[in-house]
This record gives sequence, structure tokens and C-alpha cells, in this order.
Amino acid sequence: MRDAALVLLGGAIGLAAVGWLAWRLGSRRHALPCPVWLRWMVELDNPFTRTNRAAVIVGLLDVRPGMTVLDAGCGPGRLTVPLAEAVGPQGHVVALDVQAGMLERAADRVRAAGCGNVAFVRAGLGDGALGRDRFDRAVLVTVLGEIPDRDAALRDLFDALRPGGVLSITEVIFDPHFQPRAAVLARATAAGFRQSALHGHRLAYTLHVRKPEGE
Ligand SMILES: C[S@@+](CC[C@H](N)C(=O)[O-])C[C@H]1O[C@@H](n2cnc3c(N)ncnc32)[C@H](O)[C@@H]1O
Repeated sequence: MRDAALVLLGGAIGLAAVGWLAWRLGSRRHALPCPVWLRWMVELDNPFTRTNRAAVIVGLLDVRPGMTVLDAGCGPGRLTVPLAEAVGPQGHVVALDVQAGMLERAADRVRAAGCGNVAFVRAGLGDGALGRDRFDRAVLVTVLGEIPDRDAALRDLFDALRPGGVLSITEVIFDPHFQPRAAVLARATAAGFRQSALHGHRLAYTLHVRKPEGE
């Protein structure tokens, strides 16, 4: 009985590892955003790493009442509600995602939480849909690797932030689209950002980059 259970467990872990690898390799060639039917995995608020928890990410970012914040690639709204609560009724959150099903789930969560300060936008980062100098903060949590043109996405985010505004980028190794820290920092720097803080470690980190004043 115990042996059968061990074989089953080993099989399940093996299958998950093969699936993870296939997804990772596949996403190098094609844009493969996290499917809407898998959104429950995102909503788990990852129990394996503290770095990726919504409360930790929002807490590190110094989000203050009255600010305007972009939740870029909001998915099912895991960070949208804590951000909306942090900026308060005088502040605003824009929750942007490329998939309608993710935005619908995020809107349900925002409604259930009673937050009236969130706008939803269906658009792709990198498509130039964000405008200029609008946001005090932006979060990009396990999204960058899903975007076909990452440099264009970072340029969009740079333009959309106000001078002095901060973009928080979180990556965790469990995500099949994981992006290494050095590569992300190099892309962000090329877009015009300067590093302002780093939390976590090589395999699970939150990187803060700032748009310099006077840009
Ligand atoms: C793994 S989920 C993360 C969701 C959320 N940031 C979180 O941590 O809970 C990645 C999300 O990025 C979105 N996404 C992928 N490519 C995008 C793009 N080019 N523009 C905007 N959103 C995108 C996907 O639709 C998906 O909802």
C-alpha cells in the first residue's frame, strides 16, 4: 500500500515536471499566457514562496493613499484588491490584462471586496496602450515571461510611470515563464529605469526599478 502510494506520488511529480518543462520550452517560441482555466493556481497566493505573496509585494512597494497604481497583467486580481485597499478611496488602480477571462475574475473579486476605485483595461503590454506619466507605482508579477516583446512592454511601463515612479517586478522559479534577475535588470535599464531595491534571492525575487526624475 505504502509502495503504491509512493509510486503514485512519484508519477504525479514526474508528470508535473514534464508539463512544466514542456510549457517553458514552448513559451520560448510562442506567446503562451497562463490559461484562464489555470487561474486557480495563480489565486493560491503561492504557499511555497513568501516573495510572491500579494501582501508582501504590496507591503514592500510603499503604496500610499491617493496614489494611482497599475496592476500590469493583473490575472484574476490577486494583487488588485490589496492595491485598491492601499490607495484608498482617493486613489485609483488600473487592472490591465490581455485576457478577458482574467479581467472578469478580477472584477468579481473587486466587487466582492467593495472597492470602487478600480478600472479594468483589456490590452497587451507592449502595444502602446498605457499613455504617459499616469502612474505612481506599477506591479508586474510573474507576467514578463509571457509577453512576446518584453522590451516594448518595459518601454510602455517606463512611459506610463510618472518621473520618480516605481515599477515592482516579481519572478519565481515555479513559474514556467521565470525570467532571471540579471536579464530583467538589463532590459529594465535599457528601457531607462534605475534599480532602487532588491528583495529575495536568485530564484524568487522582487526587483524595484525607478523612473528617474526629469525624464
Ligand atoms: C501568471 S499570471 C499572473 C497574474 C498576477 N500578476 C498575479 O501574480 O496574480 C500572468 C498574467 O499575465 C497576463 N499577460 C500575459 N501576457 C500579457 C500581455 N502582453 N499584456 C498584459 N497581460 C499579459 C496573462 O493573461 C495572465 O493573466
